[in-house]
Amino acid sequence: MDTIDQLIQDLKAKLQNSTTFDELEKIEIDYLGRNGLVNEQFQLMKSISPDKKKEFGAQLNTFKQKVTELISIKKESLISQTDSSEQIDFTLPGKKFSTGSLHMVTLAIEEITSIFNDLGFIRMSYPEVEWEYFSFEALNFIAGHPARDDVETFFIDAPTHEKYGKMVLTPHTSSGQIREMFRIKEPPIRMINIGKTYRPNSDATHNPMFHQFEGMCVDKNINITHLKGTIEYFAKAFFGPDRQIRLRPHHFQFTEPSFEIDITCGVCGGTAVVNNIKCKICKSGWLELGGSGIVHPNVLKAGGIDTSIYSGWAFGFGVERTYMMKDGLKLDDMRTMYGGDVNFLEQF
Ligand code: PHE
Repeated sequence: MDTIDQLIQDLKAKLQNSTTFDELEKIEIDYLGRNGLVNEQFQLMKSISPDKKKEFGAQLNTFKQKVTELISIKKESLISQTDSSEQIDFTLPGKKFSTGSLHMVTLAIEEITSIFNDLGFIRMSYPEVEWEYFSFEALNFIAGHPARDDVETFFIDAPTHEKYGKMVLTPHTSSGQIREMFRIKEPPIRMINIGKTYRPNSDATHNPMFHQFEGMCVDKNINITHLKGTIEYFAKAFFGPDRQIRLRPHHFQFTEPSFEIDITCGVCGGTAVVNNIKCKICKSGWLELGGSGIVHPNVLKAGGIDTSIYSGWAFGFGVERTYMMKDGLKLDDMRTMYGGDVNFLEQF
């Protein structure tokens, strides 16, 4: 038993001298570990004569209890000595709060807005749920005109207005032309109307809900060169200085003359050829941005503008389509933008 008392004394001395948790942990392993002193003592049981076994066993249990107790007292005292600032481990990684980010279409809208703001255009948003009148009649589509079929439309099951007709999910931002003329009344008008638009199509290049941005300028002596110059400025600011544009004759009810606007392809640089094979993105060197033209006099009249003094131009492009034409963005399906896949969206 002397040895056991001796061991306790040794332990007390070691504990006295230890000042850190590391040292204490080492002592704990030396005494209470699998190959520690306490277990070593228990091994001696085998060599003890049967009549002494009971007493020796009881002493060993007391010894084990004592060792456990002394170590835990020391642990408590080390903890209480530790000042709370020392318990912070600054090397641990910080807590990461997952932050959201703006959707790529929102970013594109902000960029478009800022480019047109620089030219003095004012950002507007007009109703997503619109009357047929503003989407069609006021834009020079008479009722039942076959060209209305070109602008496929979602109709809303709501009572018909006696003057404005049925309600629709706005199929283009052009209804904003009329609403802006009413708002401004007397030109100059420089509007960039950006909003959600809806058409019943869904494929790799169409989503039933998409966005358009509609530019309109109405003032004295406005002509096609102003339209071309503005779009060229936008194209170089948005896509880069090397991109060219061209106007291609087309037809819209609400502009005359009308044009489709094309931009040189960013992948083949407008040559239609990449590594001696036809460019897969554009096939012709050109990509179609959207429609434009000189505002039809009937539209100006519907908006209350005096056509003997004023003229104007307008264009309407898809935000998603335009964004997909940026260099290096090889999106093969527009619908991915609205798929809600965070891994995809995080890249923007
Ligand atoms: N609203 C037309 C479309 O959605 C685009 C356009 C706008 C054309 C303005 C001419 C002028 O296709």
